[in-house]
Amino acid sequence: MPVLTTQVKKDKSLHREDNKTQQHVSSTTVKVQLQSVTKTYTNGTHALLNANLEVKKGEFLFITGPSGSGKSTLLKLLYGQELPTQGEVIVDGCNVAGLRGDRLSLLRRRIGIVFQDYKLITQRTVAENVTFVLQAQGYTRKEIQRRLEPTLKLVGLLSKADCFPDQLSGGEQQRVSIARAIVGTPPLLLADEPTGNLDPDNSWQVIQILQKLNSFGATVIVSTHDEQLVRRCNHPVVQVRNGQLSRK
Ligand SMILES: Nc1ncnc2c1ncn2[C@@H]1O[C@H](COP(=O)(O)OP(=O)(O)OP(=O)(O)O)[C@@H](O)[C@H]1O
Ligand SMILES: [Mg+2]
Repeated sequence: MPVLTTQVKKDKSLHREDNKTQQHVSSTTVKVQLQSVTKTYTNGTHALLNANLEVKKGEFLFITGPSGSGKSTLLKLLYGQELPTQGEVIVDGCNVAGLRGDRLSLLRRRIGIVFQDYKLITQRTVAENVTFVLQAQGYTRKEIQRRLEPTLKLVGLLSKADCFPDQLSGGEQQRVSIARAIVGTPPLLLADEPTGNLDPDNSWQVIQILQKLNSFGATVIVSTHDEQLVRRCNHPVVQVRNGQLSRK
């Protein structure tokens, strides 16, 4: 179960980007840690306030909360799109704020991200959108082809492989973004409202896909407004309200 830590011991070694051995000190069982994290945007908005969270490897966690409560901010901090104003964000034993360049890229390669706004490339087909990242990461053509078909099948988009994003429905575009996030079988999957645009049947299918990845060992963190979906699953839930985290 994820732990909402109240007291946090600081591990100074996690600040040191140059110390490889110590950086992975806590990476054996804990996948993600937020230690007294506050995020204040430059316009003064406090998105997270003194948030503490621990997610163990292999867990499936839902993050719920009203619009504007800080769910996307929490996920953005985990892959380094945003940096904490105070506190530490630790993924795989690495202090995310301390990573730059190649080392940040290496961490991101191990994280699959389903963005709330999809971020599909409009001039590329479904297949190209899904395989783009694998190409950039140097996967061979053969390996890319081996992964593409089962992934598109899994999200029900095999017949749409050659379509462009503007030829798809909102729900189909959302499933392309899921396919892109999972095609590299990442050990950590962050999904920001992955069912936001789907009907109940499709939402359930998406959750089953994420659960499947979780059953293969991936740690999965999903933000959602969908209380019904959360109730249908038996996974731990952390609620964000006004930037503060609590267990439900
Ligand atoms: N780049 C930004 N600059 C300033 N304020 C921001 C920025 N991004 C988010 N915020 C603010 O931070 C707060 C948390 O936003 P966040 O996107 O994390 O909420 P959310 O829980 O994901 O909401 P939703 O359910 O609508 O997606 C909100 O008040 C939002 O307006
Ligand atoms: Mg959001």
